[in-house]
Amino acid sequence: MPQKKETGYYQEQHRPQFHFSPEKGWMNDPNGLVYDAGVYHYFYQHYPDSNVWGPMHWGHATSTDLVHWTHQPIALYPDSLGYIFSGSAVIDKDNTSGFKSGKADPLVAIFTYHDMVKEKAGRIDRESQGIAYSNDHGTTWTKFAGNPVLKNKGDQDFRDPKVLWHEGTKKWIMPLAVGDHLELFSSPNLIEWTKESEFGRSEGSHGGVWECPDLFPLKTKSGEEKWILIQNIGRGSVNGGSGTQYFIGKFDGKSFTNENPASAILWLDYGADNYAGVTWFGAPDNKRILIGWMSNWDDYATTVPASTWRSATTIPRELSLMETPDGLRLNQKPIEALTQLRKEAVEIAPRSFFDSLTIESPYVQKEVILHIDLAHSTASTVGFAIGNSLHEKVVVGYDKAKNEFFIDRTASGKISFSKKFAARHTAPLKAESLLTLHAFIDNTSVEVFVDEGKLVMTDLFFPNEDYQTLTLFGTGGKTELVKAEVFELKSIWKK
Ligand code: FRU
Repeated sequence: MPQKKETGYYQEQHRPQFHFSPEKGWMNDPNGLVYDAGVYHYFYQHYPDSNVWGPMHWGHATSTDLVHWTHQPIALYPDSLGYIFSGSAVIDKDNTSGFKSGKADPLVAIFTYHDMVKEKAGRIDRESQGIAYSNDHGTTWTKFAGNPVLKNKGDQDFRDPKVLWHEGTKKWIMPLAVGDHLELFSSPNLIEWTKESEFGRSEGSHGGVWECPDLFPLKTKSGEEKWILIQNIGRGSVNGGSGTQYFIGKFDGKSFTNENPASAILWLDYGADNYAGVTWFGAPDNKRILIGWMSNWDDYATTVPASTWRSATTIPRELSLMETPDGLRLNQKPIEALTQLRKEAVEIAPRSFFDSLTIESPYVQKEVILHIDLAHSTASTVGFAIGNSLHEKVVVGYDKAKNEFFIDRTASGKISFSKKFAARHTAPLKAESLLTLHAFIDNTSVEVFVDEGKLVMTDLFFPNEDYQTLTLFGTGGKTELVKAEVFELKSIWKK
């Protein structure tokens, strides 16, 4: 079947249909995630003039449901202090900064300035922190005249402030990635910052530089408060390249302490394509909602097939804490609001099958929910494959004997843009006896939530013809399928 040439808004080949991607140009990290007056703001690292990384701006989009997005004008442009690198935004409801000029609570953005003049001159003090404020709910922004508010004292990597309000000490706290560790600063007013502590020089993974931290509390089932430190790393992640680790512990307003052994490494996502993820400030009902950049910095971010734009986000995920035999771990679930994208549904009643079962669901964008009774299946590896008439495919499965979950994209289509792309990514997993696979499949990505969010894997793929087939498989025996649901998903980009 020849590839149909699509034209029209968001209809380019490989254009994600229910994930956010910029209208044109380059995107990387999510920035300035803040929920204000009923609106979710999503800012992002953006270079509008090219689809590869360049002088960084903050692009901007808004949403009332985290599913449908409205593009907004660029919020922050580079200036004489440098490119605008990653950072965060907060609502200064007590006007601690004194920036308030009207009725609205001021929004304050805290970001890294990256000075290219200094970089070219070989100076290492090239990164500092700046702020900007908005008195009209994020529509227009004014940079603070006294920038930078946090100067560099000689650290080459000194970036990505993710500010939070700490009620206990009534102070703003700025987690900042500084090379191989995290530094915490505090401030009464978002303008004057004092260093409080450091964390992590010898904890967790150090396969790459630490970037884009996030620090926030979550409650356990019994109501105990724990603090989660998300720490993205530029390379050396579990399945190669950039990725996200996290720590669970305590934060007293000054220092973070890790409750797990220093050598323990906890990964947020076992796929290759979820980086720089951080959470929304001020989301309703104390929800912790994370969104990531669906790509891999170290391996191929600038070379993946694209045309007028490059890169998309992950779907937003709600974070919670769950008990596991190994202790507390982060659980991730697709946000509930995504169910409004469901269109046609196919439901398969309980049945057992040998080898494979083709599901008639010729949709490209789909949500797949499978429940497989592992205890009564003799098949050793179970899962599903998505593919096309060119025999290109991505295989997602669980290997019972190895206790291993995997996504195999070795035969997924276009792979020559990076030697590292064609790979089989694996994760250790002791699955529940009733295995649940919940997958979101867009034109170029699959995000799988296993056993109600105990494990997540996010991977990109670039087929020469859109994947339209869906085949369940069980190798080496019988598979007991308890239930399968497949929903066609609507595009969010129809004008
Ligand atoms: C992470 C990152 C950040 C930096 C930004 C620059 O992807 O390297 O550390 O602020 O991207 O675009």
